[in-house]
Amino acid sequence: MQLQQSRRPLAWTTLLCALLGAGAATAQPAGDATSVAKGKRLFMRCAACHDVGDTPSGRIGPNLKGLLGRPLGGLVGYNYSPAMKAQKQVWDEALLNAWLTKPTNVVPGTTMAFIGIPDADERKALIDYLRSAK
Ligand code: HEC
Repeated sequence: MQLQQSRRPLAWTTLLCALLGAGAATAQPAGDATSVAKGKRLFMRCAACHDVGDTPSGRIGPNLKGLLGRPLGGLVGYNYSPAMKAQKQVWDEALLNAWLTKPTNVVPGTTMAFIGIPDADERKALIDYLRSAK
């Protein structure tokens, strides 16, 4: 009985999901894969210190795999600076964009010796790349 009643709304939901899914797929900007590829190239600037592979805690800097959604200074086993350990926020795109512009603006006292990236497109590409590195 329960099943009988829910069949119709379920069909609509399925249809709606299919439509939304298709919409989302076509709405993907064509530049996305390109942006990720560009970000991967740009990551060479970070790769001296960072990894997105399977190193447990990272190199000189923490491993950045699955960064978005992780708390700042949140990788277990990596020895962060006291300034980074004191952070309470979670990495999202806006924060990462600010960090990549000038790390010390986000976390004064961070030990990440990196001046920042002035070009917004380059920052976006890096963020796209890091989002893809799960
Ligand atoms: C010279 C080495 C070095 C370079 C180059 C460098 N980083 Fe870092 N990065 C660090 C260190 C060290 C930390 C830890 C900072 C702390 O504890 O204050 C860090 C921290 C971070 C964090 C915070 C991670 C977390 O777990 O909260 C992010 C995000 C990050 N770096 C991204 C980048 C990106 C993207 C690049 C390239 C554009 C880059 N870094 C270049 C050394 C570096």
